Amino acid sequence: MCRAPITVKRTTPNERHSVRADLEQRPPGQPQRLTITRMTQADIRPVMRIEALSFTTSWPPSAFVSELSDNKLAHYFIGRVGDPRTGNVVAYGGIWVILEDSHITTIAVHPDFRGKRYGEELLVHLLNEAIERGASWITLEARETNVVAQNLYKKYGFTIVSTRRAYYSDNGENAVVMWAGHLRGDLYRNRLATLSRELDAAIERDR
Ligand SMILES: CC(C)(COP(=O)(O)OP(=O)(O)OC[C@H]1O[C@@H](n2cnc3c(N)ncnc32)[C@H](O)[C@@H]1OP(=O)(O)O)[C@@H](O)C(=O)NCCC(=O)NCCS
Repeated sequence: MCRAPITVKRTTPNERHSVRADLEQRPPGQPQRLTITRMTQADIRPVMRIEALSFTTSWPPSAFVSELSDNKLAHYFIGRVGDPRTGNVVAYGGIWVILEDSHITTIAVHPDFRGKRYGEELLVHLLNEAIERGASWITLEARETNVVAQNLYKKYGFTIVSTRRAYYSDNGENAVVMWAGHLRGDLYRNRLATLSRELDAAIERDR
């Protein structure tokens, strides 16, 4: 789905300002390793701040409430920096796993924390979760112009398999459907293991 057009909610400049002010009140320091945990209802508020800064059409909080409480196929995670329990939520993402099929529904990193491999860390977590739950393939949709996200997915073996015309209602943009298969096969597992090792090394080096 990544991102299904549920409802339209635009971020106002005031909202943007309050999110940044909120982050700036936190202790400064170099970003560290992400602590990735299951998203709970208590996380929806910080998640909504990142959501508003990341997507032109945001999910309403009720969509996350429903995903967390009603959808047994859904698995959502947040990533914190700093204290593992109380540090800032800077990233989140989710998948659906339906038998051998899995779907990335959303993934986002706070704009101030992008380009530091947090998105990649979270994607690796989602992929491992899908594999552990028995998925053999994984799909998602991304905006045709979202080259950053597409690059990230391509790095992890996704290829574009089709286009959904005018999928996004805000501007009529096409979605590309991306897919990766044979997740449980040796080839993919080895690729994931190699990329994970490279990711660990890059985090050690750059953060
Ligand atoms: C997409 C997103 C999650 C990536 O997270 P990130 O933490 O900024 O990305 P990372 O630092 O982990 O980078 C991982 C890979 O993404 C790609 N990437 C990241 N930034 C990029 C950029 N500025 N230009 C091109 N590719 C980029 C690269 O493939 C990179 O790997 P590499 O450096 O080895 O080439 C983040 O940009 C985001 O939240 N975007 C807005 C929400 C969104 O579009 N979500 C996806 C919906 S489908």
